[in-house]
Amino acid sequence: MVDALREELADLTASVRAFLEWHAMTGADGLPGDPSALHEALGASSSEGGPPAARRADRGFAGLDAPAPAVPRGGGGAAFAPAAQRSAAGAFPAPPEQRAAAFASPPHPEQRAAEAQAARAPVQPPRAPEPSPRPAASAAAAPRAEPAARAVAAAQPDTPEERAARLSLIAEEVRTCQKCPLHEGRTHTVFSRGDPLSEIVFVGEGPGAEEDQQGEPFVGPAGQLLDKMIAAMGYHRDGVYICNIVKCRPPKNRKPEPAEMAACSPYLASQLALIKPKVIVALGATAVQGLIGTTEGITKLRGTWKLYKGSIPIMPTFHPAYLLRQPSAKREVWSDLKEVMRHLGKSAPDRG
Ligand code: URA
Repeated sequence: MVDALREELADLTASVRAFLEWHAMTGADGLPGDPSALHEALGASSSEGGPPAARRADRGFAGLDAPAPAVPRGGGGAAFAPAAQRSAAGAFPAPPEQRAAAFASPPHPEQRAAEAQAARAPVQPPRAPEPSPRPAASAAAAPRAEPAARAVAAAQPDTPEERAARLSLIAEEVRTCQKCPLHEGRTHTVFSRGDPLSEIVFVGEGPGAEEDQQGEPFVGPAGQLLDKMIAAMGYHRDGVYICNIVKCRPPKNRKPEPAEMAACSPYLASQLALIKPKVIVALGATAVQGLIGTTEGITKLRGTWKLYKGSIPIMPTFHPAYLLRQPSAKREVWSDLKEVMRHLGKSAPDRG
């Protein structure tokens, strides 16, 4: 009798948790414009109070013109990552079944990132088998959830390997996505690059020609400038997470249509729900629009904190492609990035 009640209670708890996670991920929670939520989200970590970065502004700004340190793609991220991430890194491969999840299909940048992540992760003690998995409870709570949503909602992943494996599943789903016409012209889908444990996520608009060819975001000229911006902040390009509003290249690099952004947004929502960054840097107006729906211009938006789903602070700034055309705007971008560092309790590295 007691056992039956206990089981029923466990079912109920699982249903409620799955529903709440699914609900949070699909965007019904939080008010982007809610000032108290914004204050709370910013207050939570800015109280660490890094040293004022203003005195470094000129050096940091000049630093964006300097070459970023040359480092081989896809490697070395752990060495340059912030201490919190480094502490999660280890020298041993993850258990075989977790690695298998990341290698279930042909190699792809996202899978390579998942494998690199798994390889850096500490070995976990073997887990006892779950006594009674209850997939039916979650399914009942989120009947319309897509596979990507289920990858997030199944349970909160709290090991780096689980996070990487779930991101890998979503990337796999994106690879065959036909939810909008952009799939017709793509060579590759472009899911992400970088470290899924990062405290910062950079969100761009959508892949360009080179990204479409290589299947990785920000690998063209704008990406090279973004790498310099990231280096100026004291991170390595592989130590942060980078993705886009849409995962397929719009023809002739046009701005994605609202319907295309809407079709793709559950993927980004799943990525952000799994990564739970402390800050999102939105690169350009389309990125801000895709994240919070505003159609305001970036000149007005940049430098002012916004909030994603009521909880994650967003710093809008100019897109690096705009900076290539308008280098004088680097000063504003550097000021926005310093504000991000201040929020994270970091100061800009001395770039001499
Ligand atoms: N511009 C973007 O917004 N994203 C990319 O991945 C490349 C260029």
